[in-house]
Amino acid sequence: MNQTIKDILSRRSIRRFKPEPLPRDLLAEIITAGEFAPTALNTQSLHFSVILNQDIIADISAVNKKIIGGDDGNPLKKLAQMDNFCNFYHAPAVIIISSDDIPYGVADAANAAENICIAAQSLGIGSCYIASFLPAFASPEAPRLKDRIMLPENKIVRFAVALGYIDGETPSAPPRRENNITVID
Ligand SMILES: Cc1cc2nc3c(=O)[nH]c(=O)nc-3n(C[C@H](O)[C@H](O)[C@H](O)COP(=O)(O)O)c2cc1C
Repeated sequence: MNQTIKDILSRRSIRRFKPEPLPRDLLAEIITAGEFAPTALNTQSLHFSVILNQDIIADISAVNKKIIGGDDGNPLKKLAQMDNFCNFYHAPAVIIISSDDIPYGVADAANAAENICIAAQSLGIGSCYIASFLPAFASPEAPRLKDRIMLPENKIVRFAVALGYIDGETPSAPPRRENNITVID
């Protein structure tokens, strides 16, 4: 098995990070991996907001805590009500991925998010792909939050990836479902 496939298979969602900042050169490589993800019709409408400012990360998290902490239909309601809730697991770096309002904008952003996670894994950096913060960017606070992350006009926030060095053990992979492959000769 080559190293790329090993990195894909060994990547896990990490939810405990050391506070130490990531080296800027490694962060730049990770973002480049995101930029080089495929986009439908090569639209390349993606924007990457690289947030290293803990106050902004905490702000987004606090806005979302209020929303999902009061939402009976949200599976994360209980988690969001906890005192130390951080939607980004106190990661030292969070990349928010946005795209234009185009038919494959979500897929384009998803490709970039996964490229970022795999690139991080290959560099010994932990990652967590995150969508649960999105209600904050659909709330009345959204304009203020978009300003804080300097989001270019007309970009729609799609996903985030929390990044940092792993604190503790890497969880083991959830087992794969069976009977999900059909080979047609
Ligand atoms: C589109 C998408 C959204 C996700 N959103 C969250 C999230 O908001 N919070 C979180 O902790 N994990 C989130 N995850 C991570 C999944 O929970 C995780 O990938 C899954 O449980 C499998 O675990 P693994 O990544 O370790 O293989 C998300 C993953 C994807 C693909």
